[in-house]
Amino acid sequence: MRKNIVAGNWKMNKTFQEAEELIDRIVVGMEDTSLKCELIICPPALYLEVASDYAEESRLSVGAQNVSEHEKGAYTGEISAPMLDSVDVEYCIVGHSERRKYHGETNAQLAKKTDLLLDYGIRPIFCCGEVLEEREKAIQFNVVKKQITESLFHLSADEFSNLVIAYEPVWAIGTGKTATPEQAQEMHAFIRNLISEKYGKNIADEVSILYGGSCNPGNAKTLFSNPDVDGGLIGGASLKADDFLKIAQSF
Ligand code: 13P
Repeated sequence: MRKNIVAGNWKMNKTFQEAEELIDRIVVGMEDTSLKCELIICPPALYLEVASDYAEESRLSVGAQNVSEHEKGAYTGEISAPMLDSVDVEYCIVGHSERRKYHGETNAQLAKKTDLLLDYGIRPIFCCGEVLEEREKAIQFNVVKKQITESLFHLSADEFSNLVIAYEPVWAIGTGKTATPEQAQEMHAFIRNLISEKYGKNIADEVSILYGGSCNPGNAKTLFSNPDVDGGLIGGASLKADDFLKIAQSF
């Protein structure tokens, strides 16, 4: 059976001291709670090593927010898959809409990032989702299909089974405007069906598909109760230990 996952994308927030305090609170909070999901934090790259140290002593998992499409070399400011691997990072977000928007990341580049992560045994959390204008034109299914097929469908079934997919409608990110449970379920079922057509039902049933976009302790339970919603990729609400842990307790 596929895993339930709650992952916190911290984005560009927290100083080192604040980050350490937040990780500590999450780890302590986890000790007192029995969770029915895997809990992942994706702090800024600078804090991955310390997060990994905490993870080694707890049930917490650690992911990066981004990776270079190149393996090594003269790419100032970039961080590579082998670097992430060398500090025991287990997951990495790929293709977040903010990377697509502000850094012009293309589906072809995201395919390369995915390949490199898999080469180094790091599980990609692949983000897809439409902008508001696309939903208003009712082309959201085509948009998500193109993102997934162009970046991921060159993978073998074995490789694909290591992925986590995150559906994040861009109009719901940081806006307080959450997708309705029906909208989330409809898209998640569409994605699972797409995977099933390409890789077969067994692989499709194993892949966790997370919802992201203004998910909070108040709406997580309803969202996660849908059959094809296997958890969440949480932005703002992952920056407070109590809120993050409450979301994780929503299964
Ligand atoms: P918010 O939860 O702040 O809307 O962000 C969602 C997100 O982008 C997670 O990757």
